[in-house]
Amino acid sequence: MTRILKADVHGVAAAAEVLAAGGLVAFPTETVYGLGADASNPAAVARIYAAKGRPGFNPLIAHVSDLEAAQQQAILPPAALALARDFWPSPLTLVAPVAPTGCVCDLARAGLSSVALRAPAHPAAQALLAAFGRPVVAPSANRSGHVSPVTAEHVVADLSGKVDLILDGGRTPAGLESTIVSFVGPEPTLLRPGALARADIEAALGEPLAAPTSAAIIAPGMTAAHYAPTAHLRIEAHSLENDEYGLDFGGQLSAHTPADRIFCDLSPKGDMIEAAANLFAVLRDIDARGLVKIAVAPIPQEGIGEAINDRLRRAAVR
Ligand code: TXA
Ligand code: MG
Repeated sequence: MTRILKADVHGVAAAAEVLAAGGLVAFPTETVYGLGADASNPAAVARIYAAKGRPGFNPLIAHVSDLEAAQQQAILPPAALALARDFWPSPLTLVAPVAPTGCVCDLARAGLSSVALRAPAHPAAQALLAAFGRPVVAPSANRSGHVSPVTAEHVVADLSGKVDLILDGGRTPAGLESTIVSFVGPEPTLLRPGALARADIEAALGEPLAAPTSAAIIAPGMTAAHYAPTAHLRIEAHSLENDEYGLDFGGQLSAHTPADRIFCDLSPKGDMIEAAANLFAVLRDIDARGLVKIAVAPIPQEGIGEAINDRLRRAAVR
C-alpha cells in the first residue's frame, strides 16, 4: 500500500518514521522526485533497486543536510569543499572518497570506495533530512529507464504499491537532475550535466571540468538510453516530416508549421530554465497521448541547455 501525504510537518514526520523502519519514501527535491531509503540500511536500499527494477546495482546519491553532514561521509578535497561552500544547498552532487566515519552502505555505493553526496535545497527534502538525522539515498523515483518524475502523480504512475509513502510537494522547480562532479581522479570531472550549469561550476573552480575518460565511466546510470519515452524523438529538427508532431522551443518550428502539428512549446519565450522545468512532464504527456514521432526544435548548448540536450539525446536513443 502506498500512502500519499502533503509535504507538511505532519507528512515529513511520518516519512522520517517510514525511513527509520526501513521503508521507502518518495520525496520532492528541487530537481526531480527521489525514491529515498536509510542510506545505512542495506535491506532498505535493496528495496529501492527492486522497486525501480534496476538491472544492476548502480551507485546511488546520498542526500545530506549540509556540508558538515557531508564531511562525515566523504573526504572532500579543497576544491570540492569550495564548491560545497559556494553552491550547497543546490542541485550539485559531489563524488569523493568515502570517509572512515561514513555510514552509506556498500550496496548503496555499489561497492565503490567513493560516495556521491548532495545537499538538496527543496524545503521538504531539507525538513525530511533534519527529521531523519542521517543520510538518505535516493535515485529518481521512476521505474528504471523511464523519464524522471517531477510531480507526485508521476511517482504514483511508476511506483504505486512499491513505495510506502509519497510526500506530495507539488511540481519540482528545476525539472532536471543534479549536476554530478567527481573528485575521485586527478582533476574535477563532469560525470553528468544537470540543473547547475557547467559555467557556474567552472567559474567557481577557476578551471574547466574534465570529461570522463573511459566508457566504463563509473556512473552506470549514464547508459545511453536512460531517459527513454516510448515515442521516437528526432532532435535538432528545423522542420517536420509528414508523420511528425513538433516539440518546439522559442517558436522556431511554429513559425512555419500549422498550429495543430505542434504538440507544445517547451518555452515560447525561449527561456531555457522554463524549458528544463517542463521537459520531463512534456515527455510523459507525449507518451500519454500516444504520439509516435516527435521532432524537437534545437536548444542552445549553453547554461542548462547542456543538460537539456543531454537528456534529449538519451531520450532519442532507440
Ligand atoms: O537530482 C538528482 O540527482 C536526483 C535527485 C533525487 O537527487 N537523483 C538522481 O539519482 O538523479 P540517480 O540515481 O537517478 O542518478 C545518480 C547518478 C547515477 O548515474 C550514478 O551512476 C551516479 O549518480 N553515481 C552515484 N554514486 C557514484 C559514484 N560513487 N561514482 C560515480 N557515479 C556515481
Ligand atoms: Mg534516474
